[in-house]
Amino acid sequence: MSDKRRIGILTSGGDCPGLNPVIRAVVKRGVTQLGLEVFGIRDSYNGLLSSPYRVMNLGRDAVRGILTRGGTILGTTNHGSPFAFPMKQASGEIVYVDRSREVVEAVRILELEGVIMVGGDGSLKIAHQFMEMGVPMIGVPKTIDNDIAATDYTFGFNTAVEVATEAIDRLQSTAESHDRVMVCEVMGRDAGWIALHAGIAGGADVILVPELPFDLARVCDKLKRRVAAGRLSSIVVVAEGAAESTFGQSIVEHGDGGGRMPRLGGAGAYVAKSIQERTGIETRVTVLGHLQRGGTPSAYDRLLATRYGFGAVELVREKRWGEMVALKGTEIVGVPIIDVVGRIKTIDPNGQTVQAAKGLGIEFGI
Ligand code: F6P
Repeated sequence: MSDKRRIGILTSGGDCPGLNPVIRAVVKRGVTQLGLEVFGIRDSYNGLLSSPYRVMNLGRDAVRGILTRGGTILGTTNHGSPFAFPMKQASGEIVYVDRSREVVEAVRILELEGVIMVGGDGSLKIAHQFMEMGVPMIGVPKTIDNDIAATDYTFGFNTAVEVATEAIDRLQSTAESHDRVMVCEVMGRDAGWIALHAGIAGGADVILVPELPFDLARVCDKLKRRVAAGRLSSIVVVAEGAAESTFGQSIVEHGDGGGRMPRLGGAGAYVAKSIQERTGIETRVTVLGHLQRGGTPSAYDRLLATRYGFGAVELVREKRWGEMVALKGTEIVGVPIIDVVGRIKTIDPNGQTVQAAKGLGIEFGI
């Protein structure tokens, strides 16, 4: 056995811009500066459920040039928790098997002192379950949705807002040329942070978010009032998880179960069709989808991800297993992972940002 401290790192859940800068920071700080050994685990926990294990000893060369790269060099998955792992039977049927003990065993065999897990709310819950089974874990919060509790921001969010804002800017000019309503659907499953921030930054007229179930009549009234006032084009930003108050549920494109969350989709198309039918104004929809998750991270996200990576190694150094790095104000701190499990951070309808948007005349359909 090497006398160096050895840790693992994995990325889990849907990808987002900034995962590679976290991995780079962990390796640059941990390996180059502190002399740790860092093993990258491939495709979330799946690398520990394979035979042979799919892990890579990450040296300085492995992370050279990845600061600006989107995605994750380790790969990831957002289905197949080791606690309910999908296994295809000879009959073709999928059954869900608890393979968590294999992960615990792999950590022991690979002599990992602990694992840095970079993931969202579902992945942090799994990390907590492994902690309870005796695997030391450190969490790093990621998601473009920015909905993880106990941290002010997750990396990936800022990039997504930049992408969405640029898209809204582009839609503004074509909307004006044709006197149309342009509906822009952005991601945001349970929380409408991207819609709220990009909507305000892009000068949207209507913003629809999951936290505030909307009434289409109010949305259409707003658009008709704009036409009456000579404002012949409008922008409506819809988070994918936004729901009509009468229906009360997000629109699901594909509810495959399959160990994963139902795939949302169709909110933008539904809103656009309804607006055109009810107001007679020509309306088009643009769905930004995974464009918001791909590509190079913004400078803000590179910085935040780098600080999180550094912070995660500090937690390892101090053996503060069971904690997650978080941004509080301007400081990176450690918070117990358990504080995050089962909670999500949603928009405060009475918060200053929503109040400012309302105060400027943006309609939320409520
Ligand atoms: O949680 C991040 C997220 O981008 C959500 O906003 C979205 O609903 C989901 O992931 C999409 O996941 P997939 O990549 O499986 O389509």
